[in-house]
Amino acid sequence: MTQPSTVIVIFGGTGDLARRKLVPALFQLRCKGRLPAKFHVVGAARPEMSDDQYREMMWQSLQEFSDLAVRKEEWSHFAKALHYVRVDLTATEDYDRLRSQLERFDEGGQSSNCLFYLSIAPQLFDSAVRGLADSGLAAEEDSWRRVVIEKPFGRNLETSLELNRQVSDVFSEDRVYRIDHYLGKETVQNLLVFRFANAIFESLWSRDHIDNIQITVAESVSVADRAGYYDQSGVIRDMVQNHLLQLMALVAMDPPAALDAESLRNKKIEVLKAVRRWTPEDIGRSAVLGQYQGYLAEDGVSPGSVTPTYAALRMYVDNWRWQGVPFYLRTGKAMADKLTEIVVQFRSPPHMLFSEDQGGTLNPNVLSLCLQPDEGMHLRFEVKEPDQGLQLRSNDMAFHYGSGFSEQAIPEAYERLLQDALDGDASLFIRADHIEEAWRIVDPLIERAEMSGTGALHLYNPGTWGPAEADALLTQDGYGWQSLCATHGDANG
Ligand code: BG6
Repeated sequence: MTQPSTVIVIFGGTGDLARRKLVPALFQLRCKGRLPAKFHVVGAARPEMSDDQYREMMWQSLQEFSDLAVRKEEWSHFAKALHYVRVDLTATEDYDRLRSQLERFDEGGQSSNCLFYLSIAPQLFDSAVRGLADSGLAAEEDSWRRVVIEKPFGRNLETSLELNRQVSDVFSEDRVYRIDHYLGKETVQNLLVFRFANAIFESLWSRDHIDNIQITVAESVSVADRAGYYDQSGVIRDMVQNHLLQLMALVAMDPPAALDAESLRNKKIEVLKAVRRWTPEDIGRSAVLGQYQGYLAEDGVSPGSVTPTYAALRMYVDNWRWQGVPFYLRTGKAMADKLTEIVVQFRSPPHMLFSEDQGGTLNPNVLSLCLQPDEGMHLRFEVKEPDQGLQLRSNDMAFHYGSGFSEQAIPEAYERLLQDALDGDASLFIRADHIEEAWRIVDPLIERAEMSGTGALHLYNPGTWGPAEADALLTQDGYGWQSLCATHGDANG
């Protein structure tokens, strides 16, 4: 039997994500020989454009946004597989045109496998899935048909339930690939390897040995040219509901029995279900929301906007493993540096022989997982300073991908995710119930932010680590923000 062709149709094919990430990732996969032999990419969007114009647009974007060392002949070869179809997602007849275009790729009477990538505004999701259903494009006969959905998955629990319902009317859950690009990052996947391929750490991974966990996802960029979207969204919807809760789930989950999609995803959801819900009184004490000075002057931000651009949260996971261990999460725009780091602070020794009187300091061990930009990890421990009585000094044992694997570049998250979606492996994609649980956690926070207006918002200067109140959140518990990975500047709040 002839092998069917495989086609990726990118709805929103001329948009930022397609130009900056998706097409470059597909090009890389092609260069690495990881795409099927008979493979096509169809950009679908509203502007009128020929195939050649689309190829030129993507070539220009590759030059502009990507640091891929592009060899023109490899690109020319790849570009032959790039096509363009003008599609207005609200116009029924446009899906028919798309279908005719896709039929051209049929092989020996067999229709192509199709991955429909929805990189579009959420209000168009419904039209897109209905359009695919009504035109017959979603139906699987002799080939597979899958859909990839970019965030945001709704604005709250209610809208995400509605969105999941619309999608599930057309695609069964095993054909839906909801993307959180953090899961495609090598270092995020390395969390699983680190935890479950090394016996020494997993045996310490609980309330018995861990004192607190800090997760920082700091960005130095402001909202820049995305203010229109961002002002409607804010940091909780944009970062906490998805990326931060994903990281937290991976750090806190129990070992799965296997690495298949369902085993892995079940364990992550168990963590979300155990996350302690904030009461209205609690929220004020456990959440600090901020907005950087100057946000209101950004183009596209509505006057007097109370959209938070920063959040610091204290959270608990109420289960046997984590009872009583605080998880501190913080993320924001316009901060001092770009830094994604997970810091695990272990408990201090039960009995301290080296007291401060003897010159000893009482620093607990810290493990830090540097997810970006300088990918790697640090383990901090105490050593005796030579020839200084019993003076102790903290020292780091470090591993960095840059030096450990100097020959191999870290791939873009989208490469791995696109490849997995083509292979039908949903392990690194998000199941509907995970999305819903994540909204259950953050909805009260969003409601409070929206109801209290400026009352709940702390201003911070761009280029800093956020509002002072975020530091107080930890100091009142006897801690401080830590960073062992910060490349420059002091990330300790
Ligand atoms: C996106 C958010 O999901 O993640 C952006 O919408 C944010 O606001 C981005 O800048 C951060 O991703 P990364 O990979 O640069 O850490």
